[in-house]
Amino acid sequence: MLLRMHGVLICGGTGSRLRPLTDITNKSLLPVYDKPLILHPLQVLFDADIREIAIVTGTEHIDQIRNFLGDGSRFDASFTYCVQEKPGGIAQALGLAEDASKRDSICAILGDNIYFDDLSSVIKTFDKGAHAFLKEVPDPERFGVGQMKDGVLISIEEKPTHPKSNLALTGCYLFDNRCFEIIKNLKPSARSELEITDVMRWYMEHETLHVTLLKKEWIDAGTFESLFEAARLVRGCRDVPQGRLTKTP
Ligand code: G1P
Repeated sequence: MLLRMHGVLICGGTGSRLRPLTDITNKSLLPVYDKPLILHPLQVLFDADIREIAIVTGTEHIDQIRNFLGDGSRFDASFTYCVQEKPGGIAQALGLAEDASKRDSICAILGDNIYFDDLSSVIKTFDKGAHAFLKEVPDPERFGVGQMKDGVLISIEEKPTHPKSNLALTGCYLFDNRCFEIIKNLKPSARSELEITDVMRWYMEHETLHVTLLKKEWIDAGTFESLFEAARLVRGCRDVPQGRLTKTP
């Protein structure tokens, strides 16, 4: 049986690598060529027919995000806002969306990730356990890294100094609703954050964790170089789903 799915758009963190731009606004509102970054992950949710979305962000720029996105009605969607008082990690941010998620399955996506693959069929057919989207990258030490054997994930590490593979765990995660209980039992990592990779590892060790390998470009636009590259790709790309985004003011 397919489960109802709730979206969680996570725009946390301090964006320290993008200062002074992120002194002015949240990373997810920065321009990527002709649109704010946040519209790209939002489009991934819309493409999968996800209309109920919790937006989690820090205190500094929540008003700007809310002013821009509003209650979702102009996208035929419904948005609720959750405040992450202090940066405590992506898993902590996701945990704040528990009540908003109404016991649905979760598609959590990071506000600074741009996908050029179409994820919608995988998201729409998600059943149980968890699902990760992996991408081969030249600099895996910047990301969560997954090691595969015979098509199955066998290890997951967050920003390892010596990565066991070049497969980054990208910032879109499908979980059944048990993720919230798992988050409650997580211990902070060495960087004092609740890590989303620890939630993934729980599913890998105790349950089902499916993976999709991305074929097209994927960008985490958290640095000047990747933000610039994102703009270049978006400008040149005819594959990014445009539909709804072109209608936004
Ligand atoms: C986060 C996750 C990491 C993931 C990345 C994708 O890293 O912790 O596992 O690979 O997003 O964008 P962060 O952006 O917090 O450095």
